[in-house]
Amino acid sequence: MSKDITILAIETSCDETAASVIMNGSKILSNVVVSQIESHKRFGGVVPEVASRHHVEAITQVIEQALKDAELEPSDLTAVAVTEGPGLIGALLIGINAAKTFAFVHDLPLIPVHHIAGHIYAAQLEKPLEFPLISLVVSGGHTELIYMKDHMSFEIIGETRDDAVGEAFDKVARVIDLPYPGGPHIDKLAQSGKDTFNFPRGLMKEETFDFSFSGLKSAVINKLHNCKQKGIEVNKNDVAASFQASVSDVLTAKTFAALEKYDVKNLIIAGGVAGNSELRSRFTSMCNDKNINLQIPELKFCTDNAAMIGAAAYHLYEKNHLADLTLNGRNFIDIEEYAF
Ligand code: KG4
Ligand code: ZN
Repeated sequence: MSKDITILAIETSCDETAASVIMNGSKILSNVVVSQIESHKRFGGVVPEVASRHHVEAITQVIEQALKDAELEPSDLTAVAVTEGPGLIGALLIGINAAKTFAFVHDLPLIPVHHIAGHIYAAQLEKPLEFPLISLVVSGGHTELIYMKDHMSFEIIGETRDDAVGEAFDKVARVIDLPYPGGPHIDKLAQSGKDTFNFPRGLMKEETFDFSFSGLKSAVINKLHNCKQKGIEVNKNDVAASFQASVSDVLTAKTFAALEKYDVKNLIIAGGVAGNSELRSRFTSMCNDKNINLQIPELKFCTDNAAMIGAAAYHLYEKNHLADLTLNGRNFIDIEEYAF
């Protein structure tokens, strides 16, 4: 029997300090996530310098806790994995320096992981990926349709031309006075609202797999300003439901068009916005109707975590994609360059 691959994974690309121990790419031995959301809330978004400081304070304890929960010693590990990018550079560097130090002290290989590959591989924590697949990545910084013919092979077939979908959720939430991050709050309000505003569906009818959400965001803001000027009270639940309906229409239409064009039967929805209840239920029923094998990670693995980084790292380790101690953070890395 081949030896188990046990990876300590570290993720600090934005506002979560996370460490996890993952065996053979899917068995979660521990998963520790310390969120900084409370601290950033008062600024209405993530403040990079504040994020770095919180990561410094938390990282050692988070790693120790991940090992303790897994009931393992460093000598039981096969390798250390860490998010290389994309993300906030100061935040990334805290995780990377912790990972390099740990790898050096315990003489372990170091695996650099692309954050978005991590989001996609969160699906593997539930069941193995089947190829070819298309992944719709919807997070605070990314909105992409990615075609994968095999492990660690990424082709971007569509992406946002302006705002990421999570960013649009957060901005719209802000104008209706909801706290940061706005996505989950819009999700909740939308459940008691109706799509009464009929906001635009950006690029939905165009022959492209690209997305555009800035027009939708402006339409919501303009509508609110107009109503305020006229002294008309808006129903926030209806604003949330109308915005979410527009996003869901566009995301489902583009994704199913891509599945058809590429003749693909496997779909993964990844990233923080994959936690959205309307998207989850719409994709679930549409995939049922169209016989598409759908994988959406459990809610806690949709938002940033280190288990997903450990899941992706397993394949990079198999392909011997390792880094040395000169590894640096990168605030942008094209995922297509990250194909191995
Ligand atoms: O993947 P993630 O944790 O961080 C990035 O890599 O960006 O995604 C965070 C984003 C935020 O914009 C947040 O508002 C959004 O995911 N989000 C949601 C929901 N939960 C989180 N958006 C819509 N509905 C949700 N339930
Ligand atoms: Zn993320």
